[in-house]
Amino acid sequence: MSYSISYNANPQLLSVGQLTLDSIAELFHYADMLRPVASRVKVCRILEGAVLANLFFEASTRTRISFGAAFSRLGGAVCDTTGFTFSSMAKGESISDTSRVISGYVDAIVVRHPEKGAVSEFAAATNLPLINGGDGPGEHPSQALLDLYTIINEFSRVGKSINGSHIAMVGDLKYGRTVHSLIQLLSLYKGIKFTLISPTSLQMPSYILDAVEHSGNVIEQRTSFGEELKGIDIIYATRIQKERFTSEEVEGYSPNFQVNKSFIEAHCKSNAIVMHPLPRDSREEAYDLSTDLDSDPRLAIFRQTDNGVPIRMALFSMLMGVESQIERNLRNATWKSPKFIGPNDHFALRE
Ligand code: NCD
Repeated sequence: MSYSISYNANPQLLSVGQLTLDSIAELFHYADMLRPVASRVKVCRILEGAVLANLFFEASTRTRISFGAAFSRLGGAVCDTTGFTFSSMAKGESISDTSRVISGYVDAIVVRHPEKGAVSEFAAATNLPLINGGDGPGEHPSQALLDLYTIINEFSRVGKSINGSHIAMVGDLKYGRTVHSLIQLLSLYKGIKFTLISPTSLQMPSYILDAVEHSGNVIEQRTSFGEELKGIDIIYATRIQKERFTSEEVEGYSPNFQVNKSFIEAHCKSNAIVMHPLPRDSREEAYDLSTDLDSDPRLAIFRQTDNGVPIRMALFSMLMGVESQIERNLRNATWKSPKFIGPNDHFALRE
């Protein structure tokens, strides 16, 4: 069987470099079909009997839970591990032994690991469906897909196209794996201007800048906000990844890097969107994305996190070869859930 998303002929997603506009369109088509399941209007049990190993050797809230929720909502069961302490890796077991052992127990694997490249070592020791849930400062492809899905949905509401848009990314662009994956995924489009704003020591790695420039899209790097940002279509803020620092000088952001109400009022039109992969560091001295935007409809961060579930359901469906069964297996849910999930929601989850 050949898969639209594959790595060494196995149904695995390690990097956004494996994706094309066609495979993304296919994935988003299934995500659209599964949205009513994510929004609790329908149920769909096409993975009944299957088991997922959700292996997180690094901190996670939304990625781990949304992968688990996605698999469960498709009827599967989830086994979770968190951290090294309670895994046999603490006894010196290799990644490849761990991968092969777990493959004997489950039907699909999601792995997050603090080292870049560790997830592909995991993948090399199994033929099972596998998704990279974040490998250190490397990549986070499922996050980039849900970010792109969010951008497409937000833009379609206001009649904008990704081609020709102006996208700003701010913060820790050196260690932020979400922006590493997203900028490369967006480079499949044309005529984008990327403005990258970060302290000099936290600039985007040059191998990624080269790949984006090779795609013909334009990059401008800055160390502060400026007039050039007026009229941006998207501002994507990120958290300073202090846990990955080696010899960096910066302690964190200065207040000048904070995306907040006054920045948005000065630079963004009414149809711009503000994104962040979350978690945002809400300690005052972190100057991460401000909470003073929480009631602004341009803040798309919770629509972004909500989109994690349909995207991850669609990924499992395609990697496990059950995507053609979605349509005829949708049934009405038997319970009631609120139309708006959060108090500041501007758009209903159930449309
Ligand atoms: C991010 C991650 O883990 O890379 N979070 C996420 O998965 N949504 C971003 C971060 O930790 O700052």
